[in-house]
Amino acid sequence: MDRSDIKGTFIVFEGLDGCGKTTQAQLLADFFAGQGAEYVYVREPGGTPVGDKLRAILLDPETVLTKWGEVLLLAAARAQLVQDIILPALTRGKTVICDRYLFSSVAYQGYGLEQDVELVKRVNLEAVQGLMPDMTFYLEVSVQTGLARQQKVRRLDRIERRDSGFFSRVVRGYEKMISEYNFIRLDGTAEPQVIHRQVVDNVTKKMKKGERG
Ligand code: TYD
Repeated sequence: MDRSDIKGTFIVFEGLDGCGKTTQAQLLADFFAGQGAEYVYVREPGGTPVGDKLRAILLDPETVLTKWGEVLLLAAARAQLVQDIILPALTRGKTVICDRYLFSSVAYQGYGLEQDVELVKRVNLEAVQGLMPDMTFYLEVSVQTGLARQQKVRRLDRIERRDSGFFSRVVRGYEKMISEYNFIRLDGTAEPQVIHRQVVDNVTKKMKKGERG
């Protein structure tokens, strides 16, 4: 992939289940729509015909899958999403808002499932042709807050049913990545509109800087 073909801005939201990233990704999408800006909103796993099938397998509580089976199915869904949706949008100059990206695999499968973190990173980087986001928002909530919020809205999926030890490792993984990948860390327990204003401030600043080149 030639980085100079990429004209759009790639924005990712990350965090625990129930951290509010989907709400924020959607509020940001509405903000771009209001501005008449061209954007694409995608969520992981999924977003392509094959990715949606893989999502159904991955989240079905009945699915029996090895740990590396899980890593690889997630990476396969991600590879398709990047190739078919994200890269074409970015090369056309559109902004891409992505609800989860490869950091979720590093946190959940690498740290959470205690697999080789460097290998999870390598496999995923290969799958996405090296494409990394311009900005990653990390919404911080405690494991208890996140899962309690999630449980209020619907039944927990296969991955959300894991024990609290798993989620504590996921949080530790995200915390390690904050400085490594320059995450913009926001308090996920604040009011959605307050968080949204912080997101918009950061995005606007970044895009202005990009224009100045
Ligand atoms: P999530 O986006 O939280 O789904 P929803 O919008 O339905 O809440 O993702 C679903 C689950 O998949 C969630 O528990 C996190 C998990 N997941 C991983 O474990 N690794 C990954 O790489 C991705 C993308 C998601």
